[in-house]
Amino acid sequence: MKTDAPKVIKLSEYKQPDYLVETIDLTFHLDSTKTLVQSKMTVSKNTTDAAPLVLNGEELILKSVKINGEAFTDYKHDEEVHTLTLNRVPAGSFTLEIENEINPEANKTLDGLYKSGTIFCTQNEPEGFRRITFYVDRPDNMAKFTTKIIADKKLYPILLSNGNPIAKGDLDGGKHFVTWEDPFKKPSYLYALVAGDLGFIKDTYKTTSGRNVALEIYCDKGNEDKCHHAMESLKKSMKWDEDRFGLEYDLDIYMIVAVDAFNMGAMENKGLNIFNSAYVLADQKSATDGNFYGIESVIGHEYFHNWTGNRITCRDWFQLTLKEGLTVFRDQEFSADMNSRSVERIQSVLGLRASQFAEDAGPTSHPIKPATYMEINNFYTATIYEKGAEVIRMIQTLLGVDGFRRGMDKYFELFDGQAVRTEDFIHAMSVANDNFDFTQFKNWYGQNGTPLLKSTSKYDEANKRLTLTLTQSFPANAPKDAKPYHMPVRVGLIGADGKDVASKVLELKTPTQDFVFENISSKPITSVNRDFSAPVKLTTDLSFDDQLFLMAHDSDSFNRFEAAQVVAQKLMLDLIQDAHAKKPLELNAKYVAAFGKVLADTTIDEAFKALSMTIPSEGILHQELAEIYYPETEAVRDFVMKTLATAHQDILLKLFTSIDQKGEYKLDPKAMGQRDLKIKALNLLSMVDGDKYKTLAFDHFKSATNMTDEIGALSVLINSNSSFKAEALKSFYTKWKSETLVMQKWLSVQAVASDDSAYDNILALEKDSIYDRTIPNLVRALLGQFAANNKVQFNHPSGRGYKLVADRMLELDKLNPQVASRLASGFKDYSRIPKDLQAKMKPELDRIIKTDGLSKNVYEIVSKILA
Ligand code: PHE
Ligand code: ZN
Repeated sequence: MKTDAPKVIKLSEYKQPDYLVETIDLTFHLDSTKTLVQSKMTVSKNTTDAAPLVLNGEELILKSVKINGEAFTDYKHDEEVHTLTLNRVPAGSFTLEIENEINPEANKTLDGLYKSGTIFCTQNEPEGFRRITFYVDRPDNMAKFTTKIIADKKLYPILLSNGNPIAKGDLDGGKHFVTWEDPFKKPSYLYALVAGDLGFIKDTYKTTSGRNVALEIYCDKGNEDKCHHAMESLKKSMKWDEDRFGLEYDLDIYMIVAVDAFNMGAMENKGLNIFNSAYVLADQKSATDGNFYGIESVIGHEYFHNWTGNRITCRDWFQLTLKEGLTVFRDQEFSADMNSRSVERIQSVLGLRASQFAEDAGPTSHPIKPATYMEINNFYTATIYEKGAEVIRMIQTLLGVDGFRRGMDKYFELFDGQAVRTEDFIHAMSVANDNFDFTQFKNWYGQNGTPLLKSTSKYDEANKRLTLTLTQSFPANAPKDAKPYHMPVRVGLIGADGKDVASKVLELKTPTQDFVFENISSKPITSVNRDFSAPVKLTTDLSFDDQLFLMAHDSDSFNRFEAAQVVAQKLMLDLIQDAHAKKPLELNAKYVAAFGKVLADTTIDEAFKALSMTIPSEGILHQELAEIYYPETEAVRDFVMKTLATAHQDILLKLFTSIDQKGEYKLDPKAMGQRDLKIKALNLLSMVDGDKYKTLAFDHFKSATNMTDEIGALSVLINSNSSFKAEALKSFYTKWKSETLVMQKWLSVQAVASDDSAYDNILALEKDSIYDRTIPNLVRALLGQFAANNKVQFNHPSGRGYKLVADRMLELDKLNPQVASRLASGFKDYSRIPKDLQAKMKPELDRIIKTDGLSKNVYEIVSKILA
C-alpha cells in the first residue's frame, strides 16, 4: 500500500506554542549505541485553552516521565506521528523529567545526535533536536540550556556544548564529565554537543570593548595544521562585524568543530559551530583558491549568525530567509571587503543565476518566504539564501549604506532576544529611516519567479534629453495576481568618450515608467541594472556594437563583465538552434575580435580578465531554451571555446607563460586572480587541435605545487579527453587517496566528464575503497555532480543516467532522506526535455513516487516535478 501524501504545513495556520520550556538541564551518558538522555525542564502553559502538552520525539526509546518529581503515566507515545502527548499536566509552571535512550551509531540521517567517524556530534536545525529527546521543538520556544556530558575519558577526552564550561571531574569506571551552561535563551535548533578524541588549535581575540575571547578549532587528530586559515578567517569576521555593524561577540569562548559526515556546509550553534570539514580544513597542497575563499565566507557566515540568527531568531520556519538572506548578504559584504569587491559581486551573481534562477523557473519555484511546505529541510534553497540576500541588498540600495546600518541598529534595539518575522525586520528598517514606505517592496517576499525588466531609451537631440523607459513584467510561473515590484535600478549614461555623463538609482514601482535625464549633450549608451541592483532578467534595446562598447568602457565592472555575457549568450543560443537544425556553425567575427581585445587589454587585472574569459555555462543556456537540447548546447560551447582559442592561441599562451609562479605562495586577490587566469587560458588552449597544449596541461599538472593548479590541470586533461588523462587520474589517486577532501575533487572531475565512459566509471568509483555512501560529501561529489552538472550523460538517450540516479535516491532515502532529496533536483528539467527523453524519465519518477515508505523529503520534490 502506498503511503498517503504528507501533510502540508501552512504559514497561515501559525499558532503560538501551547506550552513553553523556560529551562532545560540535560545529562548525556554517552555510548555509541545506547546513549541515555536525561532531561529536566521547567514548563509553563502559554494558552488559556484546555490543551494537552504535545512534545516532538523521533526514534527515541522512552524510559520514564516524571512531573514535579512524581512518576507520570497519563501520556501517549505515538511513534507514527512522532509525538508524546501528556494529558492533564499541572496548570501552573511545573518540572518535567524525561529519560530516553538513543542509538547515535545507527543514526545515518545525520540529524540529532550521531557519529562522524569516532566523533559524537549533533545537528539540530531545523528539527533534529526531537531525535535527541522529547521537546517543544520549534524556534519560538526559547529556553536556557545546561548540559552535563558523561563519557569514557580515554575515548572521549574532549566534551563540548554551548556556552561556558562550569564544572568538570572524573567519575568511576574510567569516565569523566563536563558541565556546560549557556546564559542565552535559545531555540533547540541551536543546541549542540560534541565529544571525541579531537585535535585542536587555539587562539584569542580581544573585542573592541576589551573582552578576551578564547577561540578553539577542533578537528580529527593530524589535521590541526589545516585549521589556520579558518582561524584567521574567524578573527577577520569578528573584527569586520565590529567595524561594519558595531556587533561584538557575547560569550567568552567560540568553538568550531570540523566533521566529515555533515549534511550541509556548516551550522551556527551558539558558541559551538559544527562544520563540514570541507569548510574548515585547507592548506596550499590540498585546497584550491576556491576552497580558501569558501572557508573564509562560511566561517564568516556562521559567525555573523551569532547576531542575525541566534540573538534574534525566527518565529517559525517560514521566516527562514530572515536569518539566512540577511546573513548571506552579510557574508557577501565581508568577502567583498576582504577580497575584490567587483570579483565577489560577479561571482555571487553568477551563482545566483546558475542555481536560484533555475530553481525559480522550475517545478520547485517558491518565494523567499514560502506560504507552505511539506518538509522544511527542502527549503534550505538558493531562493531562501541567495535571492533572500539580493532582497536585503536592495533594501541597502534603497536606504543607502548608512540608512541600512541605522535599520540594523534599530532591529537589534527592538528585537534582541526574540524570535521574530521578516515583517519585524522591515519595520525596523522603516522606522530608522523616516518611516520609509516598504509596503510595495514586501512583494519581493511573497511572489516567486524571476521578474523581467526591459529597458529602452529615446534621445531627443533638440532638447538634449534622454528618456529611459523601464518596463517590468512577470514570468509565466509567477502568481496569477502578481503585483509590480518596487525595484532599485542603478543606471549610468555613458558618453562617446566612455565617461559617465549621469549615474543614479531609479526606483521603479509601476509596470512601466519613464525616467527623464536633462542636459545630455549627445546620445549616450545606457548601462542599466549596474552592480545587478535588482535580481531580474534584463533585456535592452542595445545593439551588438553598444554591448561591445560597454565591454570596453563601462565604469561599472559588473556591467562591463555582463556585456560580454549578453553578447556571448545571444550568439550561442542562435548557434544551438543551428546545431539542432544540423546547420554548419559559424562564430561572429566581431565577437571573436572583441574577445581578443579583452585578452590583450593590459589595463584590467588578472582576476577580472579570468572572469571575462568565462563564457556562459551550459546550465545558463539551458534556462533560455523552451526545449532543452543537451548535446547541442555542449557542442556549441565546445565550438565557441575552440574557435576563440584557435584564433587567439598566441596571446593565450603568452598569458599562460608570462605569469610566473616561482615566488612565495600567496592567497591575496592578485595571486588568486593569476592562478585563475592561467587555468582559464590553459583550459581554452586545450581545445585547440593537436597535442601541443595538452602536453602543456600535463606539464602544468605534474609541476603543480598547489591544488588550484593540480586539480585545474587535471580537469583540463579530462575535458579535452587528452591521452594523458588516465595516467594523470591514476597518479593523482595514488598521491591523495588518504585525504577524503581531495578525493572528493577527484570524484567530481570524473563525474562531470562529458564522454560516454562517465557512466561506467561512476559504477566503478562507487566500489572504490575511498567511497562511502553514508558521507554526503562523497555522494554529492559523485552522484550529485553527475545529476546536476553532467547534463549530457545524465540525459543519455538510453535512460541509464535516470535509472542510476533514481536507484541511488531510493537506496539513500532509507539512510539519509536529505541527501536523497537533493539528488532529485537532477530531474527538474522534466517538463522541458525532448519527448523521447521524457518517455525515459517519467517511468523513473513514477517508480520513485510509488515507493512504499518514501520520505516526505523526496515525495515533496518528485511530486512537484510530476505535477
Ligand atoms: N543554518 C545553516 C547555515 O546556513 C545551514 C544548515 C541548515 C546547516 C540545516 C545544517 C542543517 O549556516
Ligand atoms: Zn546560514
